[in-house]
Amino acid sequence: MKRTLLTSAIALASIASAVGSAQAAQLTISCGAVGAELTLCQEGIRAWEEKTGHSVDVVSTPNSSTERLSLYQQILSANSSDIDVMQIDVVWPGLLANHLLDLSEVLGEDAAAGHFETIVTNNTIDGRLVAMPWFTDAGVLYYREDLLEKYDHDVPTTWQELTEIAREIKEAERAEGNNRMQGFVFQGRAYEGLTVNALEWVASHGGGTIVDQDGEVTINNERAAEALDLAASWIGDISPEGVLNYTEEEARGVFQGGNAVFMRNWPYAWSLAQSDDSDVRDKVGVTQLPAGGEDGQSAAGLGGWNLAVSRYSEHPELAADLVAFLTGEAEQKRRAIQASYNPTIDALYQDEEVLEAVPFFGTLYDTFTNAVARPSAPTGDAYGRVSNAFFSTSHDVLSGSKDGAQAVSDLEGELLRLKRRNW
Ligand code: GLC
Repeated sequence: MKRTLLTSAIALASIASAVGSAQAAQLTISCGAVGAELTLCQEGIRAWEEKTGHSVDVVSTPNSSTERLSLYQQILSANSSDIDVMQIDVVWPGLLANHLLDLSEVLGEDAAAGHFETIVTNNTIDGRLVAMPWFTDAGVLYYREDLLEKYDHDVPTTWQELTEIAREIKEAERAEGNNRMQGFVFQGRAYEGLTVNALEWVASHGGGTIVDQDGEVTINNERAAEALDLAASWIGDISPEGVLNYTEEEARGVFQGGNAVFMRNWPYAWSLAQSDDSDVRDKVGVTQLPAGGEDGQSAAGLGGWNLAVSRYSEHPELAADLVAFLTGEAEQKRRAIQASYNPTIDALYQDEEVLEAVPFFGTLYDTFTNAVARPSAPTGDAYGRVSNAFFSTSHDVLSGSKDGAQAVSDLEGELLRLKRRNW
């Protein structure tokens, strides 16, 4: 008798759970739309929908990381359940942690096993795994192989060399009638992208990372000033005035249209530069960014995006399942091959199909694993203000309203005031 009761209880429970999972839910995810990002996200979601029978609305967000952050902050601070899964930048876990679910509670303690340790640590705030790594990013240098060959130059290894080669080729190409040719394009708009570009210039000159690991403000130094002054000298020379308003996509547009010798961008630009409608298909090389002077070193800024579940989601478990699916190995492999998004799973850097599609994932492996982080960990929830102060100051130098030395000294004052109150 007892046994029969128990058996029927189990049967009832499994019927209930079958009914529960048969009810299709509707989730919402926000993903980016830079380059092929949105299409890739939609394809991954379609596969999850087919697998689970649930449906997902995809909302796209502004391209600028700075604008995305303020949108998310508005949504989350209203405790809104509108978005279940959010694509969050590698510099945001500390800023948004309180609004995000601990994924290890839902997906298990080993949810992020096999992913790069540094990113998992970055996404773990007060012991809570607030986001799963989706793709990593590091700044790289794109160059026109055909033009370097035509003018008999090697790939530059210092910024100073890049400046000279870019100037020479730009002028020679213009003399041949290519009036739109530029030497170097990058991300010069006053937004998060400039924080990364300027950090790369400063760090590669040995000028540190704005704020160090212990939270000390280090930006006021000669090398940082020199790096910013060098970048300012590019404007109107090897770089157009317009670069002061470029994000990733504007820079890519110029380079992919065949109108720049060099470009600083993220790996995603590779597969687009190699696409059928690209003017530079098969003419592009990718290498590490130049060092700042003979005694400097190459410094690639660390970027990347993660997937997080909002604490206010009405379907936290399903949302976490979607995150696990999208960040899983099969999806990361597809994204790497199809659109050169860097996996966060180490094993995929030894995968032959991945390496064949994107050879520099192999040759620049060290660049990806040693990229320089922005100071989001030491500044915690003040990071947004720290970055704003840094990109505004860098923009002032680029646009000629301050010189490097004045800029880093003013910035130090501003950061010290922020530090006193926040970290
Ligand atoms: C890329 C990076 C991200 C960074 C942003 C800046 O999307 O992955 O980390 O904040 O560029 O523009």
